[in-house]
Amino acid sequence: MITGKARVAGVIGWPVGHSRSPRLHGFWLARHGIDGAYVPLAVAPEALERALAALPALGLAGVNVTVPHKEHALARMDALTERARRIGAVNTILCQSDGRLLGDNTDGFGFLENLRQRRPDWRAGHGPAVVLGAGGAARAVCASLLEAGCPALTLVNRDQGRARALAEALAAWSPVPITLATWDEAPRVLGGAALLVNTTSLGMVGQPPLDLDLRGLAPSALVTDIVYAPLETPLLARARALGLATVDGLGMLLHQGRPGFEAWFGVAPEVDDALRAAVLAEP
Ligand code: ATR
Repeated sequence: MITGKARVAGVIGWPVGHSRSPRLHGFWLARHGIDGAYVPLAVAPEALERALAALPALGLAGVNVTVPHKEHALARMDALTERARRIGAVNTILCQSDGRLLGDNTDGFGFLENLRQRRPDWRAGHGPAVVLGAGGAARAVCASLLEAGCPALTLVNRDQGRARALAEALAAWSPVPITLATWDEAPRVLGGAALLVNTTSLGMVGQPPLDLDLRGLAPSALVTDIVYAPLETPLLARARALGLATVDGLGMLLHQGRPGFEAWFGVAPEVDDALRAAVLAEP
């Protein structure tokens, strides 16, 4: 039950019907008995600018931003956090009391917090990382790994120009060496990796499986996927069959929501098994 004093936040996307964020924030609102609401906001690309301008006018506390608006929203912010600037995209907007919009990006935070929660002994500084993909998700994952002390990075991507552009963007602020590899070269670059991350859509329901020979990975390597549908992707299943440690991608989604929820509703929420079950529940 909400009152006339309820704080209101939401998620802007197009389409937005697939978003799990209303379920995620709705779970936390109910658990903490907060007088607040978190709603899906279907905003077409041509309406993004007007929709963002209207957020303070409507008195919203803020919004999450999802596909396809994350990069375009960045240009419409009055201020940006350093991590949003580095990632080049915004996934969390805070409406400030003076009506200005502060753009943040919590995707990299969510990625790291998921690994830290599921593998408490894991450290970014343990060794080089191999990141599969060079899209928007890869930008967030790579930036967070470099900030957390990862000593070397290899990017594997089909479109090498896109991988080069990402490597150059990261090199603008990080001294960490970054190398590029093709998919054919990928099995050989796994040898020195402490962490393997899939940020491509391969392995997701309805997409081709990610077919990569993992036998070159060290037994101590950790394998993680940002795809969470299915929860155990073909990549994670293969890693597990080899006896490697794995972390699924659901937690990244859950943890990326924490900073926004705390800013909008004033409570630091937790990620646990009950939340995982609620967010995974059908439909
Ligand atoms: P996101 O924002 O979720 O990262 P994206 O920016 O569209 O989405 O990036 C998708 C990633 O998956 C890219 O790295 C893409 O590779 P290209 O840059 O070469 O396109 C990768 N990807 C998607 N489908 C792929 C496929 N069939 N084979 C190889 N890579 C694929």
